[in-house]
Amino acid sequence: MNSETAQKLAADGELSVESRVAELLSSMGLDEKIGQMSQLQAGGGWIPEELANGIRRGRVGSVLNEPDVKIINELQRLAVEESRLGIPLLIGRDVIHGFKTVFPIPLGQAATWNPSVVEAGARVSAEEAARAGINWTFAPMIDITRDPRWGRIAESLGEDPYLCSELGTAMVRGFQSDDLSAPDAIAACAKHFAGYGAAEGGRDYNTANIPENEMRNVYLRPFKAVADAGVATFMSAFCDLNGVPATGNSWLMNQILRQEWSYQGVVVSDWESIVEMSVHGFTHDDEQAAYEAAMAGIDMEMASSSYRDHLEDLVGENKITLEQIDRMVERVLRLKFELGLFEQPYTDPAQHPEPLNKANLKVAKQAAMQSCVLLKNAQQTLPLIPTKLDAVALIGPLADDGYEQMGTWVFDGDAANSVTCRQAIDELIGHTVEIHHVKALETTRAASEDNFASAKSAAEKSDAAIIVVGEEAFMSGEAHSRANIDLPGHQQALIEAVASTGKPVIVVIMAGRPLTIEAVLAHADAVLYAWHPGTMGGPAIADLLFGLESPSGKLPVTFPRVVGQVPIHYAQKNTGRPATEESCVNINEVPPRAPQTSLGMTSFHLDAGFKPLFPFGYGLSYGRFQYVKITTSHHSISLGQSLDISADVVNMGSHAGEEVVQLYIRDLVGNVTRPIKELKGFRRIRLKPGERQRISFRVHTDDLAFYNRDMRLTTEPGQFHAWIGGSSDAPLWAEFEVHV
Ligand code: NOJ
Repeated sequence: MNSETAQKLAADGELSVESRVAELLSSMGLDEKIGQMSQLQAGGGWIPEELANGIRRGRVGSVLNEPDVKIINELQRLAVEESRLGIPLLIGRDVIHGFKTVFPIPLGQAATWNPSVVEAGARVSAEEAARAGINWTFAPMIDITRDPRWGRIAESLGEDPYLCSELGTAMVRGFQSDDLSAPDAIAACAKHFAGYGAAEGGRDYNTANIPENEMRNVYLRPFKAVADAGVATFMSAFCDLNGVPATGNSWLMNQILRQEWSYQGVVVSDWESIVEMSVHGFTHDDEQAAYEAAMAGIDMEMASSSYRDHLEDLVGENKITLEQIDRMVERVLRLKFELGLFEQPYTDPAQHPEPLNKANLKVAKQAAMQSCVLLKNAQQTLPLIPTKLDAVALIGPLADDGYEQMGTWVFDGDAANSVTCRQAIDELIGHTVEIHHVKALETTRAASEDNFASAKSAAEKSDAAIIVVGEEAFMSGEAHSRANIDLPGHQQALIEAVASTGKPVIVVIMAGRPLTIEAVLAHADAVLYAWHPGTMGGPAIADLLFGLESPSGKLPVTFPRVVGQVPIHYAQKNTGRPATEESCVNINEVPPRAPQTSLGMTSFHLDAGFKPLFPFGYGLSYGRFQYVKITTSHHSISLGQSLDISADVVNMGSHAGEEVVQLYIRDLVGNVTRPIKELKGFRRIRLKPGERQRISFRVHTDDLAFYNRDMRLTTEPGQFHAWIGGSSDAPLWAEFEVHV
């Protein structure tokens, strides 16, 4: 069959995707099948001869890292017109938090607790990327992580499996839309399967040891959720999981993903993660690595060439069967048909909206605005009222840096399109309020305090000082973990110097992770955590600081006081000796030679207590939300039934605002111990001053299920506690019972 026949066949609307796949497969040689299982790196602006020839010979199924539509169209032309079977290419790219319009880093998006905002962001990203000919993104990253040292926490949706599942599926919907074959839809990729976020010591690529029970109850849950939601592809993780690298982990991919979840989509390796199995010490050489990866069910190899070099021999030696190869190739072909690539392999940018258009920027601004978390607001320092101000000081290394505010994983965004705090504040209030801008530190890591005097004098001449500090973009992301998560360089000293003027100090922090900022809180009147907010970070922050909108972000991850508390997360187990305020001893208050057993004997740190700096779910508003009157519709329900848990939320403040109402549950006794709290629902509401709303969450007994000691998903009858409030620390609770 030549390429013309293949295309004719493929375009025949009468045939189902399955028939088209079968037809095409039956005409393929083994080398062409292995080609479909191979993803190659693009040249970055040109097409290397080797790549072009590989495509012509049908030895390439996918290309990654080429964002130029002209080159992508030429790659597709080589595949469609010059290869024997004319099979179009999957064009992959890391569109992680935006393409040209850059959205907040995923951890920031998670702080919105708003699936529709997250979905809208992914939609915009898909539209902009599809215009460039990209048809596959390597997102969302849904690795649960409870370690802020890990650089890739920036790319995650936080510590909680429920929140991550809700937002991860929203991202998938946004990327893929409801029709994968639409010209502006791109395939999403659930990564990294699995356990990558539990890297020991928070050091990237490091080993993860996760008991099966924890794996199923925590780490796998978001993956199951996106698989059920129809995510087109999965990517295996780099890490060694319980002694077996994830990329060669048959338990993960064959048993869990394919058998238990019946997942039909493509699984791609991570970058060279197949051949790295030999570096792990799991395989002797690339041939064995290719064998293990194929046996575990990796359909496509990213970047390295072990499949191209060895699969043919492995089939010849009967180690891998042709049937196994066919199953893998079928999945790749099916995705290409579903994406509509056979019908339309080329992209005409003129048929797509311009990137960075007004509507896209509006979505990015809303996401940035809802992602900012107000951590402190003493004496209602914020919002600043422009009519009451003559001058403000705008200080700090990140106040006017369009590049750093975009954060990690930005391949296609341009700093020139970012609107910084300086630009936005100037635009918003510059006509009536004088703005004294002093960068003060060259970078976030800089140590020279030479410009601190100018920073102080700017503050002295002003009614308030806004200091924008944090981490540069490179300090988080892949391979960029930190062992110390304090504010880098001399930024703390800068805050203290400015605070010494006695002027109100508002600290805005842009960072890729939770930082240990107890010292910042001690010197700042208000602290707004803005993550890396992306292209529209400046306007979003300006609107919040000056009261056009109220902050409404909530932490998607626990903030430790000191790094030694890590891992610290809200859904911890109770232990046999839970700490209490009374039992918790402070190292500085212990008398000399105090007997060991007089010291608390509960689970805490002598030098850090047992509480985080800020709990999961925390975030203030200019509104003041109070929770009262929690009720359950039933005291007791039987398995298979539901109950409603409700509470009143009242805005006691004088500003309107949005609040994320959260529901937590505790299962008091289990066949395996249960977390002291688990998020089971959340809802974003808007309340005017004085307004009250009753919020109800319906909970089915299936929602209370967990994997027990026998790895069976069960709901156990017994007593439950339920909390409704504005964070995982919410005090308002009720109880109910589940019976058989
Ligand atoms: C390695 C990263 O781990 C993965 O997340 C990414 O998608 C690939 N490289 C491709 O860039």
